[in-house]
Amino acid sequence: MLTSISFLKSNYDFEKTIQMIDTSDADYIHVDVADGLFVNSKTIFNKKMLEVLKASKKPKDVHLMTLHLKNYIDAFSFIQPEYITFHIEATAEPEKIIEYIKSKKIKVGVAIDPFTDIKKLEPFMSHIDLILVMSVIPGYGGQKFISQTPQRIKKIYELKKENKISVKINVDGGINAETIQNLNPEYLDMIVGGSFVCENANFNDQIAKLKNTKRNV
Ligand code: DX5
Ligand code: ZN
Repeated sequence: MLTSISFLKSNYDFEKTIQMIDTSDADYIHVDVADGLFVNSKTIFNKKMLEVLKASKKPKDVHLMTLHLKNYIDAFSFIQPEYITFHIEATAEPEKIIEYIKSKKIKVGVAIDPFTDIKKLEPFMSHIDLILVMSVIPGYGGQKFISQTPQRIKKIYELKKENKISVKINVDGGINAETIQNLNPEYLDMIVGGSFVCENANFNDQIAKLKNTKRNV
């Protein structure tokens, strides 16, 4: 299972955190983008920060928690991400956004909030590369994992199998050595680790805990 590390909540400044993720065993850097509209929080990325992300060695997985998706897709294309993920709740025209991301030769992810009906994903599942299942209300790092998440992931996995779709499944929010025990690795391709990793001196120790903790499921 791949790990994607979110730097939203870290003990270190932006550049140090990126450097620590870059030299760790993480598979991806998870770039959370918040606009103060779709979510209450707002992130600010200046040119220097985008340059740092672009120069980092790990592939980038951008998570847009925003409206005005095309503007953000244009801005974050600069860092040459492998994935750009947008929220199904953030647009009335997901097909157009999917095509727009694809036109930039970037893989497409669709995120779903904890209380959005999973059925909303069905029409798009076969056209996208990644589903990001939110296990917290998006906006902030360091929140509590929502306990219904494992059942939702199972349902999405079953839909994927029934329809013979190869989309990857990722989960984001509140993942730590305890909550991960409830996540069946068979259903997941990737997990996002945030404060559990970046609020520690040794990122690799924390990443290893996420990868190796024995599951209850
Ligand atoms: C939530 C973000 C998450 C978050 C993960 O709004 O999308 O990526 O930063 O951080 P933790 O693991 O601390 O919840
Ligand atoms: Zn995220």
